[in-house]
Amino acid sequence: MINKTIILAGGSGFLGQSAADFFKASGYKIIIFTRGQTIEKNNIQYVNWDGKTLGNWCDYLENSTALINLTGRSINCIHNEQNKKDIIESRINSVKILNEAIAQAKNPPSVFIQASSLAIYGNTTELCDENASHGNDFPAEVCEKWENEFYKKELPQIRKVIFRIGLILGKNGGALKPLAKLTKLGLGGTIGSGKQFMSWLHIEDFNRMLEFAIENPNISGNYNVVSSKPATNQEFMQTLRKVLKMPWSPPVPEFMVKIGARFIMKTESNLALGSQNCIPKRFLESGFKIKYTNLTETLSDLLKK
Ligand SMILES: NC(=O)c1ccc[n+]([C@@H]2O[C@H](COP(=O)([O-])OP(=O)(O)OC[C@H]3O[C@@H](n4cnc5c(N)ncnc54)[C@H](OP(=O)(O)O)[C@@H]3O)[C@@H](O)[C@H]2O)c1
Repeated sequence: MINKTIILAGGSGFLGQSAADFFKASGYKIIIFTRGQTIEKNNIQYVNWDGKTLGNWCDYLENSTALINLTGRSINCIHNEQNKKDIIESRINSVKILNEAIAQAKNPPSVFIQASSLAIYGNTTELCDENASHGNDFPAEVCEKWENEFYKKELPQIRKVIFRIGLILGKNGGALKPLAKLTKLGLGGTIGSGKQFMSWLHIEDFNRMLEFAIENPNISGNYNVVSSKPATNQEFMQTLRKVLKMPWSPPVPEFMVKIGARFIMKTESNLALGSQNCIPKRFLESGFKIKYTNLTETLSDLLKK
């Protein structure tokens, strides 16, 4: 009998935990590859791996339905040489070893979904579908290396899908929590010029897109994983204040964002000042229906008590 099993490599984080709950509720068995302990928790099997070498974890791929790889050292840090190396290597190594493990499996999953990011298009206000040109900054370089490694090994029996993920809005992690906290403290002003675009997606739609990609055999190749209407930062912060019933607050000028990012948040200011204006052209063409296209409804849903 073929198991209805989903493997989430790097599934212990923000997106993986949400996907695990989502697919568990649909009756899937969930296996998470983690650098942590092999343990069963909340009906989820956590299996130890190092994300770079073959091991006993490979056995779990046999007869599974789908493999989703979300592994990667967070980009939310100062991009010094060591961190850049870790960001790239954690991604490349995991993709490479998963490709190898699939090639050796007798009955591998039929679909392999690999995380990438809309950052591949660079910092731009131009509208980007999947055919848009790529950027030339560090985040774009990371995505190109990630995707090239994914496609490098040909696995004819496997459907390969790249998820170029946007800014995922969820209750339990990601950017929304700190933004909502700052807004409640009266610090929810426009960031920088406010003209930069935020290509957001409700986490429920992220999980629905995963499900659609697994169940629909026509889904293959690169997909923008984002809602249909990106917001400028000015619109986003205004909507957030409205939903949280907070009054207008003063804009935060670019130089203050840069100082705050480096010395207080210990991260790159580009994460707040950079722009991605992307649409999910290929998902829409495939007949996928996005549930949350309205930012006010999305934020109200996620921030309700
Ligand atoms: N969240 C977003 O809005 C967003 C947007 C665009 C792209 N993405 C991409 O989507 C993926 C998942 O995002 P997320 O928000 O769920 O990230 P996350 O919460 O940081 O989870 C990533 C997981 O990767 C594993 N990991 C971290 N550093 C590693 C390393 N050096 N070597 C091997 N494994 C490592 C960790 O699992 P263990 O500690 O259990 O091993 C961690 O739970 C990431 O690749 C991210 O770049 C996310």
